[in-house]
Amino acid sequence: MKTIELNLTVNNHARTFRIAPGDLLLDVLRREGYFGVKRGCETGECGACTVLLDGKPVNSCLVFAAQAEGRAVETVEALAQNGQLHPLQEAFLDHGAVQCGFCTPGMLLSAKALLARNPDPTEEQVREAMAGHLCRCTGYKKQVEAVLALAAARKEARS
Ligand code: FES
Ligand code: FES
Repeated sequence: MKTIELNLTVNNHARTFRIAPGDLLLDVLRREGYFGVKRGCETGECGACTVLLDGKPVNSCLVFAAQAEGRAVETVEALAQNGQLHPLQEAFLDHGAVQCGFCTPGMLLSAKALLARNPDPTEEQVREAMAGHLCRCTGYKKQVEAVLALAAARKEARS
């Protein structure tokens, strides 16, 4: 089988993978051990496979790995640092927004991207950012509350 070299950064580390031209980003990331990238519907419906590509959420089941050449990929594994959960992870836990956790990595990454471009979102904007994620356990209220609470706490800290 023909393979090609893929050069990219994953979670700020330069990586080189050998891939088949038709490999999906979801498959390559999981093959390389990024198991926080979840395999759900594989049709772009559930959001479980979400990663950030140059800071923007994408469904990695719909992206060829080769499209990530020279680009920056971020997975949920990048969020906790030095054994400390990311504030979004803390907020999700504090608000009971995690049950089985299958949807959680994707939701956290979409929330992170939202707060990076809009640190003070309205509830409507948070709901819109989360719209591509299906959760079979908690519903959606708690995740939205968690994101709004973190945004409010950060706003308070800035003032
Ligand atoms: S696995 Fe990619 S959107 Fe469901
Ligand atoms: S916490 Fe189980 S699918 Fe969302």
